[in-house]
Amino acid sequence: MSENVIYSINGPVVTVKDATDFSMLEMVYVGNKKLIGEVISITSHATTIQVYETTTGLKPGEPVYGTGQPISATLGPGILRNIFDGIERPLQEIANESGAFIPTGSNVSSLDETALWDVTLKVKVGDEIQGGDIYATCPETPLIEHRCMLLPTLSGKVIEVKPDGQYTINDVICKIEDEKGEVHELTLCQKWPIKDPRPVKERLPISIPLVTGQRVIDTLFPIAKGGTAAIPGGFGTGKTMTQHQLAKWCDADIIVYVGCGERGNEMTQVLEEFSELIDPKSNRPLTDRTVLIANTSNMPVAAREASIYTGVTLAEYYRDMGYHVAIMADSTSRWAEALREISGRLEEMPAEEGFPAYLPSRLSQFYERAGYMENLNGSTGSVSIIGAVSPQGSDFSEPVTQNTKRFVRCFWALDKSLAYARHYYAINWNESYSEYVTDLAKWYEKNVGDQFLKDRQELQALLAEETKLMEIVKLIGSDVLPDDQKLIIEISRIIRVGYLQQNAFHKDDTYVPLVKQMKMMEVILYLYHQARSALSEGKSISSVLETGLFDKVVKMKYDVPNDHIEMLDEYMPMIDDAIAHIQ
Ligand SMILES: Nc1ncnc2c1ncn2[C@@H]1O[C@H](COP(=O)(O)OP(=O)(O)O)[C@@H](O)[C@H]1O
Ligand SMILES: [Mg+2]
Repeated sequence: MSENVIYSINGPVVTVKDATDFSMLEMVYVGNKKLIGEVISITSHATTIQVYETTTGLKPGEPVYGTGQPISATLGPGILRNIFDGIERPLQEIANESGAFIPTGSNVSSLDETALWDVTLKVKVGDEIQGGDIYATCPETPLIEHRCMLLPTLSGKVIEVKPDGQYTINDVICKIEDEKGEVHELTLCQKWPIKDPRPVKERLPISIPLVTGQRVIDTLFPIAKGGTAAIPGGFGTGKTMTQHQLAKWCDADIIVYVGCGERGNEMTQVLEEFSELIDPKSNRPLTDRTVLIANTSNMPVAAREASIYTGVTLAEYYRDMGYHVAIMADSTSRWAEALREISGRLEEMPAEEGFPAYLPSRLSQFYERAGYMENLNGSTGSVSIIGAVSPQGSDFSEPVTQNTKRFVRCFWALDKSLAYARHYYAINWNESYSEYVTDLAKWYEKNVGDQFLKDRQELQALLAEETKLMEIVKLIGSDVLPDDQKLIIEISRIIRVGYLQQNAFHKDDTYVPLVKQMKMMEVILYLYHQARSALSEGKSISSVLETGLFDKVVKMKYDVPNDHIEMLDEYMPMIDDAIAHIQ
């Protein structure tokens, strides 16, 4: 029994006086209900605890128990298809147990302890195994094989192995003896502290894109497997929509979706849409490779802080198995607000806009956990992190956006005026960037064709030229422009409307394979080059426009279905023909 008792309570912050037996970042149980908390500061007379659950009803004098362990995630089969709160308590399970959405202090385990898994043992007695080695596998869902790996900190000789068969996550299926002669029992699961990155053998160079099927991203501002991206944008500019689209379509094996401080119904929407969407390769719903972490606006603030660490820990665990994992966090601004709230209650010295001085270091600790890695067991895998940022009033100069920008290499700036004009994706092509293009160049050349990057560059040059011309047009109108400049404006409209705009609700446009992206670029640029030579032969811009070619090309994204990409080849002769017939 601990004699430590609560001295004061201030929202999620609780103090204990004169305690000597707590350590920094230790997980503790607070009060009679055993609420989950974490030690966040210790002085000689007071220990401060952040409580991850609502502290309503908690009273001074109630006991506080140490656990001797940091806040950890339980890692094992049963994570996928699940929906957890910020400290990995299953929301569905909790609802079953007590009927309420989330009760406080409930002692539900993270993973189903009764489910039986079809386990295949991968080691035999006498084997020497190291941290990270896979000792058993089981199909977690029809899409994903779960690989049980020795805790990174352990190694030893296998002394006992159970036969293949059905086991629950807590059944001992294997025993090892370490160098000191100590015996360790291995089950299907393990614990890992959420704030510690899981160790790897080596960080590998970035070289493969995370293909999203979203043209403006794949073509202009690509993200890499193991890369980081931020989606800053004001309210209603399409952050959530972008995250949902990436979660549905990007070519990661596993999706971890963290809904952080945003509306609860958006999480329900993810659940519903994902169970309806069928993976074409396996005919299984996308939920089979997805895990959701929900700390919505109505849930305790402190758990919001934990939610992104929990999310990235789950992501690293699947990476260690050799999978490509993408984690979406919507929104990191709400997470930063949770930091600010806790910091305020601790009466820490605030920095910019009331955020604590450690905001940048916390952001960097999160994004640094992305990467393309060689794992301890020799497999390779990646964690890609995509964080939404919601700056007040679309003001990108605020601290969360600015600090995030320091740590991510893709910046997809959502633009309020584009969103107003219903130009979706509202990703501003002048302000956004990707620093991965050179890293990925070889991959594009080998897998899509060297034309891809050349076309991309030409597209970008045209858009930049248009931006310059529009400055002139704003001042003196477009009539004064020579025909070749008018052509740039017309072709840029095709690029903007026919290419960069992409309709998430259209059956073919919602996802566009890279080959189709390249062919679409080719058609647009072919039209541009043919029109330009028509002008140089003395034909007028209006006669070129009258061919109707521009209207036709702008609609090709809807007219050419994804399973008939070859139809795009018919556009070149059509363009030749129409231009040849100009009088
Ligand atoms: N790619 C897109 N295609 C179609 N509609 C979009 C697209 N992106 C955003 N929208 C529209 O914008 C609305 C608001 O987007 P949302 O992602 O909820 O904004 P935010 O999360 O930034 O507040 C969506 O409900 C949708 O109607
Ligand atoms: Mg949103």
